Amino acid sequence: MIDTKRIAAEKAVTYVKSGMTIGLGTGSTARYAIESLGLMVKDGLDIKAIATSLQSESLAEDLGIRLTNFSEVEQLDITIDGADEVDENLQLIKGGGGALLREKIVAASTRCYIIIADEKKLVRQLGNLPLPVEIIPFGYQSTLPKIKMLGGDVSLRKDAHEIFVTDNGNYIADCSFGIIANPPALQKKIKAVTGVVETGLFLNMANLIIIGCADGTLKIRIA
Ligand code: 5RP
Repeated sequence: MIDTKRIAAEKAVTYVKSGMTIGLGTGSTARYAIESLGLMVKDGLDIKAIATSLQSESLAEDLGIRLTNFSEVEQLDITIDGADEVDENLQLIKGGGGALLREKIVAASTRCYIIIADEKKLVRQLGNLPLPVEIIPFGYQSTLPKIKMLGGDVSLRKDAHEIFVTDNGNYIADCSFGIIANPPALQKKIKAVTGVVETGLFLNMANLIIIGCADGTLKIRIA
């Protein structure tokens, strides 16, 4: 059986060249890209990378990928990351793995933001899955109902029975608004709630989407 995530990742890394600074995404699809980059580094590829999560950072370290940070680098050349949903206008929902804040900071500093996914992530409109929203722990009991007042079902993400804590020490509210007819308007409303740090709506950020298909082909969409 074709590993659709892997073939998308393997195509994405072909854009990476020596001398570049690369953003490393988070999740099972991004993991394939990091592993491929690790092999390329062993073969002489000379890159520096910033990871979007502690998990990806430690994987990159183990694979011998040189890490850097924003005190040394202002802009990244390419970031390769996964997504939870990709709509027809190349708008995204991310944050299924809870790394949305670092992912968005890295994406916002990247010249070419490449999203890799399998066909299951393609949707006509965003909102089939809950939208992850990163919130500050202080006063979260008061933040959650304010997001709920925007018309969604809101649940605090748990890891087993414990509250899930992001790499930034924050919490995630998973918010089901149903189909999101107007993503920019929703983004604006959620961001206006005090206590919200960032949402998993990645709007007008992706430059290239690479979708791995079950028949072994790739769908490539360019923004
Ligand atoms: C993590 C993310 C991931 O990129 C997203 O959840 C996709 O994960 P996967 O590649 O495992 O399906 O946004 O915060």
